[in-house]
Amino acid sequence: MAKNPKITDPEKDPKVSTIKDFPEEIPNELPHQSAFLNRHQMLERNGTLLLVASLLVVSIGGIVEIAPLFYLENTIEDVEGMRPYSPLELAGRDIYVREGCYTCHSQMIRPMRDEVERYGHYSLAAESQYDHPFQWGSKRTGPDLARVGGRYSDEWHVDHLNDPQSVVPESVMPKYAFLNDVMLDGELIQANMKTHRFVGVPYTDEMIETAQADFIAQADPEADWDELLERYPGAQTRNFDGAPGVSEMDALVAYLQMLGTLVDFSTFTPDASR
Ligand code: HEC
Repeated sequence: MAKNPKITDPEKDPKVSTIKDFPEEIPNELPHQSAFLNRHQMLERNGTLLLVASLLVVSIGGIVEIAPLFYLENTIEDVEGMRPYSPLELAGRDIYVREGCYTCHSQMIRPMRDEVERYGHYSLAAESQYDHPFQWGSKRTGPDLARVGGRYSDEWHVDHLNDPQSVVPESVMPKYAFLNDVMLDGELIQANMKTHRFVGVPYTDEMIETAQADFIAQADPEADWDELLERYPGAQTRNFDGAPGVSEMDALVAYLQMLGTLVDFSTFTPDASR
């Protein structure tokens, strides 16, 4: 409908009815509004009051969540099978972090059905208790690696790291063939383990004493592994990359092959009280 250009005040427009035309019919309050809701209007109409009241509610919620953590001795359930990383695994983990594998791979299986069916049992807090820094996350350009240990052969990992597209043609993962060429002597592993002990990883004096020897022995098929296995139960011992000496490839594959293998989930029962 075209507007009448001469009428600018709606009250003077005969086609517009205003509240003044029906003083009785439009009540100030709706009948279902209770006294409580009326008082809530105070908050809705006063920004400062709303801010103060919201802060109050949020702090109560925060305290309820945070305060109990100060009284719990340990928030991580002890789980059988978990142990600190062996020297070679620890070195492999450092290469994993150095190369930024975490920018495409998480290590945290969430307790949702699709994840559990694809990757295995959901991750336990205890499984990353010796991780400094932890490798949780949700960035998954590639699959979650929390339980990749034992899923593929060592040869598959070496081929895949050398040239991912040779085994998965559509892969966008970069090549890491240079890891074969860098040989390691474990010179720094002792200092590394001492630092981990400093932040709470329970490495014993004996473990630190024998760190370099264990480092070399784990990937040496000629070595005697009995003592190493006593110190690091469940450690996998073999020449991981098939080439002589300990290379960065050996260390990284040793790390990948142990991921998620320490806890035996056929006997594990979660502690419901945590
Ligand atoms: C640019 C992202 C990217 C980076 C960085 C990356 N990856 Fe991947 N990765 C992928 C993708 C995508 C796949 C899936 C295709 C394939 O298997 O290559 C994958 C697959 C894998 C798999 C096989 C997992 C499975 O369950 O099939 C392993 C193991 C792996 N990557 C290890 C690594 C390691 C170790 C590094 C660091 C040295 C690394 N990735 C760095 C993207 C990446």
